[in-house]
Amino acid sequence: METTMTFEYAPAPESRAIVTIKPKYGHFIGGKFVAGGKHFPTINPATEEVLSQIALAGKADVDAAVKAARKAYTSTWSKMSGKERGKYLYRIARIMQERAREFAVLETLDNGKPIRESRDTDIPLAAAHFFYHAGWADKLEYAGLGTSPKPLGVAGQIIPWNFPLLMLAWKVAPALAAGNTVVLKPAESTPLTALLFAEVCQQAELPAGVVNIVTGDGSTGALIVNHPGIDKIAFTGSTEVGKIIARAVAPTSKSVTLELGGKAANIVFDDAPIDETVEGIVNGIFFNQGHVCCAGSRLLLQESVAEEVLHKLKNRMEKIRVGDPMDKNTDVGAINSKEQLAKIIELAAVGDAEGAERWSPACSLPSKGFWFAPTIFTGVTQAHRIAREEIFGPVLSVLTFRTPQEAIEKANNTPFGLSAGIWSEKGSRTLWASQQLRAGVIWANTFNKFDPTSPFGGYKESGWGREGGRHGLAAYLKGVSHE
Ligand code: NAI
Ligand code: MG
Repeated sequence: METTMTFEYAPAPESRAIVTIKPKYGHFIGGKFVAGGKHFPTINPATEEVLSQIALAGKADVDAAVKAARKAYTSTWSKMSGKERGKYLYRIARIMQERAREFAVLETLDNGKPIRESRDTDIPLAAAHFFYHAGWADKLEYAGLGTSPKPLGVAGQIIPWNFPLLMLAWKVAPALAAGNTVVLKPAESTPLTALLFAEVCQQAELPAGVVNIVTGDGSTGALIVNHPGIDKIAFTGSTEVGKIIARAVAPTSKSVTLELGGKAANIVFDDAPIDETVEGIVNGIFFNQGHVCCAGSRLLLQESVAEEVLHKLKNRMEKIRVGDPMDKNTDVGAINSKEQLAKIIELAAVGDAEGAERWSPACSLPSKGFWFAPTIFTGVTQAHRIAREEIFGPVLSVLTFRTPQEAIEKANNTPFGLSAGIWSEKGSRTLWASQQLRAGVIWANTFNKFDPTSPFGGYKESGWGREGGRHGLAAYLKGVSHE
């Protein structure tokens, strides 16, 4: 018997009183906030409210940031013992925990993601990355990466808008632990938590210039990538920009790591525990509005269970709460930008045009802001664009398969290879499938689980190198292989 009981949730809005957003921000260079020239707005995508004016860094700003980073590297950070560096990282981690609510509210306002996710996932994980790397700072010689590993120098780091503070932590924590200094650029639509992090660096009394934050768009990113004073580029974002960066650094001596797009297969075998699997499918594609490079955006169902899974999935989707990201009950928040919404709408229309069948639960969307209802497409084939291209939104493409071998062939038939999911009760089948899948991260009977101790990265067009764990440290040390 199916339960049809539904609960009504009273609104449970988080207060924004804890954050102070300045009307205008400059860059954080050499330990100080310095005024910018041109500015552009950052908005709350759930309301279209302008939150603040953000400085657009040009050549002079990037030059100043690189100079400050070099000075801090040569005079202070590279000379400091690992134990001392570790103390600063612990301090930063603890302050991030102390100010977690402030960070969570600010992240949700600037990004549009549900407060439940920024509070329970983004911010705790960002702090965990600093704690984890603080522990490595004085133990690098035991990491199996050579007896006396040396930092690379100044790292230029460019991050996206889907997990703003978390991506900052993935970049800054290992760089600093390994003895590098950094120039970081947050994404243009989500700069506010990076600017709050700059305040945390001041509060932790981090030596001036170890962390520099310049804000801006792709033009600022390109200035960082092409700057001759930078030794390493770390990028997370689109495969398109990743390719531009790879070409730009190819003739230089810069090291590079790229975390790019994905189109992960989430494979459901006939022996999977169906109810748990349905939760995993929902988490795999609707977490963070599907703005997740490792999202389980291609659902591969074994034919014999396809009907049952789809039936239960649709039932479950009826209960997803879409709306105000500041409400503690909200599951799916706002799409991060007008541009991203346009891209999702366009690709979903291609799905219709190519003959796939679209389904969304009945849900009312706010009239202001950028919204897209959780959506699934069935009857999708490998040839469809919605099976091949990253949509980066709450849209799931469903395919079916008959044999395990067919599942693997379909799963691997993609230019990407970032992640994959396997749902099965059999350990032997899970191990077999995980050896066949060409993906950097493979989850079994779960999805979208992250941990600073675990390396993360992709095959093929999903990028180069790994972040997190011992492998991620290697990418910030001299003469160590990146794979
Ligand atoms: P994007 O790759 O343009 O932006 C990511 C970061 O790179 C931002 O900080 C941006 O300012 C910077 N950037 C842009 N052009 C640059 C250049 N030429 N040189 C250096 N830095 C540059 O991504 P966008 O336009 O925001 O999103 C487009 C698509 O990319 C999405 O629809 C999604 O499919 C994918 N994407 C993937 C992400 C991931 O986590 N793998 C994150 C963000 C986007
Ligand atoms: Mg914003």
